[in-house]
Amino acid sequence: MLPPDQTYQLLRNLTSPVVAVTSERDGKENGMISDAAIRASIVPTVPRLSVYVHKFNFSHDLIFDPGRFVLHLLHDKQFDLIHRLGFVSGRDRDKLADVPHHRGVLGAPVLDDCYAHFECRVANVMDTGSSTLFLGDVVEVGFGAAQAPRGEVMTASHFRTNMRPEWLKEYQAGLETAQRFAEERSRQIRAVVWRGLEP
Ligand SMILES: Cc1cc2nc3c(=O)[nH]c(=O)nc-3n(C[C@H](O)[C@H](O)[C@H](O)COP(=O)(O)O)c2cc1C
Repeated sequence: MLPPDQTYQLLRNLTSPVVAVTSERDGKENGMISDAAIRASIVPTVPRLSVYVHKFNFSHDLIFDPGRFVLHLLHDKQFDLIHRLGFVSGRDRDKLADVPHHRGVLGAPVLDDCYAHFECRVANVMDTGSSTLFLGDVVEVGFGAAQAPRGEVMTASHFRTNMRPEWLKEYQAGLETAQRFAEERSRQIRAVVWRGLEP
């Protein structure tokens, strides 16, 4: 086995594009950032994706309880949106207050400015101890408001390499807090049966 740091750096190659995940529960809207989202179906008529959300994030229960979320691919200029949604929690502030958005067909917020969005109903979940992997059935999809050409999708390496230098310390601190939280809980995996899938 390689040393943990080298293993982690290798695993970083599996990081996804940077996406914004929005949610809503009891009138409270929120949004967060993830780079752990992936296509989860090869069947065009059964479009699915999945995303890992840490349990300490406010968004976690806002997705889990109503069983829906909207995942947005971002274009490669949306650094400020990532800073706004991915560096602070929505527990104490309305992070979407100044971000133009509208309600989607499932009732969760859809950001007007993005590369594309996927409205998802949760089809199943997997507990990892520290986070939940949400499997989403895509029920609606659309492009952002900007006209084509849409440019490039924001990748994790483009974000890490080109974010404002003054954000780096904050980004690293957030990552280390998340890593400590995850380290303590990663082995406490629960068996979770998603609603409606009970035997
Ligand atoms: C580039 C980037 C990638 C991130 N990836 C994830 C992720 O995959 N899963 C996750 O739960 N949080 C991830 N985060 C952290 C959350 O976006 C962050 O904790 C956010 O403040 C949560 O907001 P909330 O508490 O309002 O839900 C990421 C943040 C950034 C900046």
